[in-house]
Amino acid sequence: MQIEQIFKNNEKWISEKLALDQHYFENLSKGQDPEILYIGCSDSRVSAEEIMGVQPGEVFVHRNIANLVNNVDLSVMSVLNYAVRQLSIKHIIVCGHYYCGGVKAAMKAEDLGILNPWLRNIRDVYRLHKEELNAISDENARYNRLVELNVQEQCVNLIKTAAVQQAYKQRSITVHGWVFDIHSGKLIDLKIDLPKILANIMEIYSLE
Ligand code: CO
Repeated sequence: MQIEQIFKNNEKWISEKLALDQHYFENLSKGQDPEILYIGCSDSRVSAEEIMGVQPGEVFVHRNIANLVNNVDLSVMSVLNYAVRQLSIKHIIVCGHYYCGGVKAAMKAEDLGILNPWLRNIRDVYRLHKEELNAISDENARYNRLVELNVQEQCVNLIKTAAVQQAYKQRSITVHGWVFDIHSGKLIDLKIDLPKILANIMEIYSLE
């Protein structure tokens, strides 16, 4: 892709938006009030807004390799705290995707340099669910399941934070675990039973 093309695309997009609503950008510049925080993978095929069919201003977005909610990653923790405490968002979505290169890399015995500590978070997910995963003989099915379990564990990581625990108690913020299936284009709700998971672990992670 030619970089100049992007600026042409931008001009076209501006004209299209203004043709529908001449005050579009004027209104957009007044501020944001999104109800959703989306945490997804940086993969170029999983463009958050496009797969959800949402417009600018509707979703606060954070993306990183393999959609990790790492408790010592200042970037995701800043996004989370700002979204929950300042923007008062109502829903948090962790969206993984099948064919995730980050998850695939974490299933291999390979030194990937600076990516090692990042991907180790996924190896930890594997360790937590080793019994279930090792019982799946088909490698592709095991890979898909690890993608799902990774989403589940990142949802659990959200609940470990004070911001989410507080919002959960005060205004019933909801956490959703989804997977985007690149092969079909479908968004799949994993229907993670968070209250059940929470009941098991809150004695350890409760901050209040
Ligand atoms: Co990915």
